[in-house]
Amino acid sequence: MLTDVPPVEPPLLLAARRQPTPFTPVWLMRQAGRYMPEYRALRARHSFLELCKTPSAAAEVTLQPVERLGVDAAILFADILLIVEPLGVGLEFAKGEGPVIHRPIRGAAEVARLTPIDVPSALGFVFETVRLVRQALPVGVPLIGFAGAPFTVASYVVEGGPSRDFTATKRLMHEEPEAWTRLLSLIAHATAGYLNGQIAAGAQAVQLFDSWVGALSPDDYRDFVLPHTRAVIRGLTPGVPVIHFGTGTAGLLPSLRAAGGDVIGLDWRVDLDAGWRAVGEDVGVQGNLDPVALLSPPARFESAVRNILDRARGRPGHIFNLGHGILPATPVEHVKALVEMVHELTARP
Ligand code: CP3
Repeated sequence: MLTDVPPVEPPLLLAARRQPTPFTPVWLMRQAGRYMPEYRALRARHSFLELCKTPSAAAEVTLQPVERLGVDAAILFADILLIVEPLGVGLEFAKGEGPVIHRPIRGAAEVARLTPIDVPSALGFVFETVRLVRQALPVGVPLIGFAGAPFTVASYVVEGGPSRDFTATKRLMHEEPEAWTRLLSLIAHATAGYLNGQIAAGAQAVQLFDSWVGALSPDDYRDFVLPHTRAVIRGLTPGVPVIHFGTGTAGLLPSLRAAGGDVIGLDWRVDLDAGWRAVGEDVGVQGNLDPVALLSPPARFESAVRNILDRARGRPGHIFNLGHGILPATPVEHVKALVEMVHELTARP
């Protein structure tokens, strides 16, 4: 229908294509979550996985921050680990511990037994959430779909949960490289299908989260991970902006960029201008306020926000974001003030 076509592209999509925008668009990683009272009210009645698997509830959570904060994009409410549940590894979100995988994949014999993930039947509920959100969102607010990148997803499957040193993951990578390749290829193939399913259902940009990739040496990233992330990005429906994010990536930025993405997500451990130079000024960047800054009142974090905007110098292609997810203890009013601050400081006549 013609009336569904916005007269101009939403600012966030313009920025992802490095086009001039009326102000610097902002969305916030983990903008849907426990820091928000509306979310906690829903969570009091449903487990996290129940929320993810009930499209009407997941759509409601996706929309909450758009209404409450005035951010320039919605991010799908889901989780990077939903894709591995169909492998039969026993996924659970245990209270206070984060994700737990009860039957981790540690060696070649276990990898050999894995069968490909049937994305449409196993993850159809996510596509239904995307359709519901897209119907409810104003045309000027794009919906960002997402998935975990192969390394970060594999790290949970192999370790069985969050990890500090990633010893089991690196052991598999180095000692059983064929099993590693098979595992990452299987995840990469499913991930491309999963993101394309989100795009077909109405996601207008997608983000790949390689949250823990900073644990790798540059050589290991290039040899064992980059080809798989690249395969995901090359397998995506053309024309949809891809945001490629990791943390602790200061030493990996050129390689991350080589793996692909229209926008590279930077964490706060690099200066935004130095990070932008490292990835190349022919791609966009997203970032990069330390999420801890939002625990303090706006008068305290304003200088950090101005510093990031000064480093971006108003060049097309900057999406304002945090360097990682909003922390649960963050006051909602601080988050709302941040969104307003970025819009006011960057409004162009
Ligand atoms: O607003 C959004 O950004 C969308 C929601 C979203 C969630 N998970 C919901 C969630 C997104 C984008 C994710 C991605 C995700 N999940 C990542 C990559 C992003 C990142 O932060 O690095 C990772 C590593 C995961 C795995 C995961 N899921 C972890 C480590 C945890 C525990 C987090 C914690 O702080 O306890 C989860 C659970 C999770 N995913 C929650 C939410 C809102 C909290 C669950 C709850 O309500 O108890």
